[in-house]
Amino acid sequence: MERIKEEFDKLLVDVKDQESLKQLKARFLGKKGRVSELFKNLRNIEPQKRKEFGAKINELKEYIEQRLNEKLLEIKQKQKEESLKKETIDITLDGRGINFGGIHPITLTIMEIEEIFSSLGFGVEVGPEIELDLFNFELLNIPKEHPARDMQDTFYINDNVVLRTHTSPTQIRVMKRQQPPVMFISPGRVYRRDSDITHSPMFHQVEGLLVDKNIRFSDLKGVLSGFLRRFFGDVPVRFRPSYFPFTEPSAEVDIGCIICGGKGCRVCSYTGYLEVLGCGMVHPNVLRNGGYDPDIYSGFAFGLGVERFAMLKYGIDNIKLFFENDLRFLEQFSLAKGRLL
Ligand code: PHE
Repeated sequence: MERIKEEFDKLLVDVKDQESLKQLKARFLGKKGRVSELFKNLRNIEPQKRKEFGAKINELKEYIEQRLNEKLLEIKQKQKEESLKKETIDITLDGRGINFGGIHPITLTIMEIEEIFSSLGFGVEVGPEIELDLFNFELLNIPKEHPARDMQDTFYINDNVVLRTHTSPTQIRVMKRQQPPVMFISPGRVYRRDSDITHSPMFHQVEGLLVDKNIRFSDLKGVLSGFLRRFFGDVPVRFRPSYFPFTEPSAEVDIGCIICGGKGCRVCSYTGYLEVLGCGMVHPNVLRNGGYDPDIYSGFAFGLGVERFAMLKYGIDNIKLFFENDLRFLEQFSLAKGRLL
């Protein structure tokens, strides 16, 4: 029995997994195992000693069973530790990172313009891109033979319908449904047959209209100068007489060139100034066409090109960059770069 116990102890040391533990168990406690053999031998023992002998075998059997159970727990514990080790996550690895979407610079510019005018109390209106000739031209005091109607400039859908060439038809649409006071801006796409590094056949404008009693040219100057300084920073602003069929008097507005600081460069054609918008006092005919009495009401209107504003503000020298959707360009306006957040 001592030898069997020693043999068992020795073999147990080398057991590393459940399978060999099972084999060891069979070898000692199985039907033909060493301990069963001992029990079978009991009948060869003298009857007086059988009881004592049997108790000893049972002791041995219990010893072996206990050691086997201990070993089984040991093996299971080790397996658990190993699988835990395998499953651990190395938190020192770098993360994959998240790509932030961006806001297109044209949208961004429109949002900034809207923010400034909203703070002054202007609302926001939108009009259709496919527009009646009546609203795009006729009611804006642009007669049939006016050069702005030239086939060179306008995309005609049929005799009466065009792709709007400016956002000004929104003036008529809003006036027709709303009595003064009105004050709104209207951003949107416009279309002209024109294409080079500063012109695209589709581009964006923001229209503005304010009509009430006693609106004067000084109101126009104050609002537009304030707006331009908020958008471009502290730049000189100048008003030049100009002509639009739907305003009288009309003006174009220049800002001191923000590229050269007014010294004169290629961008400002060495004038030190950049033209940024068209404006004027709403023509009495247009007020009438909108359903307003020009003897009671007066107002001013303006229109600006969004691409031009964006190009000047962000130093972009080719209008095509806005429409090619090259990520290397667009990512520079990503939210992750800190704008708008
Ligand atoms: N619609 C004019 C243009 O496209 C701009 C403008 C709008 C001028 C309103 C005066 C008043 O050039």
